[in-house]
Amino acid sequence: MSFTRRVYLDHSATTPADPRVVEAMMPYLTERFGNASSVHFFGQEARAAVDRARREVAGLIGARSNEIVFLSGGTEANNLAIRGLCEAVEPPGPHIITSSIEHSSLRGICEALEKRGWEITRLPAYEDGVVRLEDVRSALRADTVLISVMLANNEIGTIQPIQEIGALVRQERASGRKHLWLHTDAVQAAGRIRIDVEQLGCDILSLSAHKLYAPKGAGALYVRRGVRILGQNVGGHQERERRAGTEAVPGIVAFGAAARIAREELDQRNDNAKELREKFEAAVAERVSDVVFNGHPERRLSHISNISFRFIEGQSLLINLDLEGIAVSTGSACSSGTLEPSPVIRALGRNDELARGAIRFSFGKDNTAAEVDYVVDVLSRVAQKLRTLSPLNKVKVPSLEFRVSS
Ligand SMILES: Cc1ncc(COP(=O)(O)O)c(C=O)c1O
Repeated sequence: MSFTRRVYLDHSATTPADPRVVEAMMPYLTERFGNASSVHFFGQEARAAVDRARREVAGLIGARSNEIVFLSGGTEANNLAIRGLCEAVEPPGPHIITSSIEHSSLRGICEALEKRGWEITRLPAYEDGVVRLEDVRSALRADTVLISVMLANNEIGTIQPIQEIGALVRQERASGRKHLWLHTDAVQAAGRIRIDVEQLGCDILSLSAHKLYAPKGAGALYVRRGVRILGQNVGGHQERERRAGTEAVPGIVAFGAAARIAREELDQRNDNAKELREKFEAAVAERVSDVVFNGHPERRLSHISNISFRFIEGQSLLINLDLEGIAVSTGSACSSGTLEPSPVIRALGRNDELARGAIRFSFGKDNTAAEVDYVVDVLSRVAQKLRTLSPLNKVKVPSLEFRVSS
């Protein structure tokens, strides 16, 4: 491979561990290696570190520390949230409301529940990628037990009206309804927008450490006091029986440190990401033809830009950018490697060509303006080259314009 530099614009897929986070974690790999369930000094030291991390993660979302369950990541958090709640409901279901733009983990869980007899309503997200409160209201049934809508989307970054949905759930409860809970997947939103679970009015919320400059392997589920969920990992007393298994102390400590730093640096990170994204989008609009920006222009996370390039397969663009040292993704990271059009971009009403030509650029705290310039230079050159070669291309010859059929 011949490239002069590497630019990572895939921070929604994962982030590098912050050196400060690694420093906080290191002692728990070596001299402070105790099992947090052990009674002796080594165990107590590990327990104290887990408790501290629990306070730090709770602090990021305005929760109490005993409302945080540590687990392996966002996918497991979503599984525990939905399965754990649905299995705890007496009498069971059978109705869940969710959106058509959830992360694949949530989609997979709902499909599995559907096979077991649960009914799922998937709300539209319209062209701007935002779910409407009125749709939630009209989808509500007497037997709806759960509403699960993500706080911010992982492909287009759109921020969903969770606070409004939370208010609706509270209203329903105030009028005597007992079995209705709100879950939100905040894996992408955490550390990007301020989150206060009380203000949001959600009952359960999913988090993942590796999107926050901590290593992979830790996540958390916020479960509001009084909400009953059934542990899906059984056979141990850890995490108050909601997640059996020896706690991954180093990862949890790292998650705590990352949550604390994210809270302190949230505004600064957002300002930086927004500035870079605005510069990037303005330059792309000026220098690359036939592009369509996906998602709501304002109501979205500051670091995500999702763009469809007409007449180009997103996968080819991704590979060509990679050859020049630039890392981006098509659809969500989990669906990369398949040529299926992104279900999220399809849910915006885009056709298959635009859905397949969509690329997500996600900026991080250490990206620079010089990197943006480099990416735009490469992007405009590569897009032009691919369009010349592409069978999808609209070939332009003097005074004649036509599309080559494949
Ligand atoms: C919105 C959302 N939910 C859940 C997940 C899954 O998190 P994890 O990778 O920690 O399993 C992701 C990861 O991309 C995500 O973006």
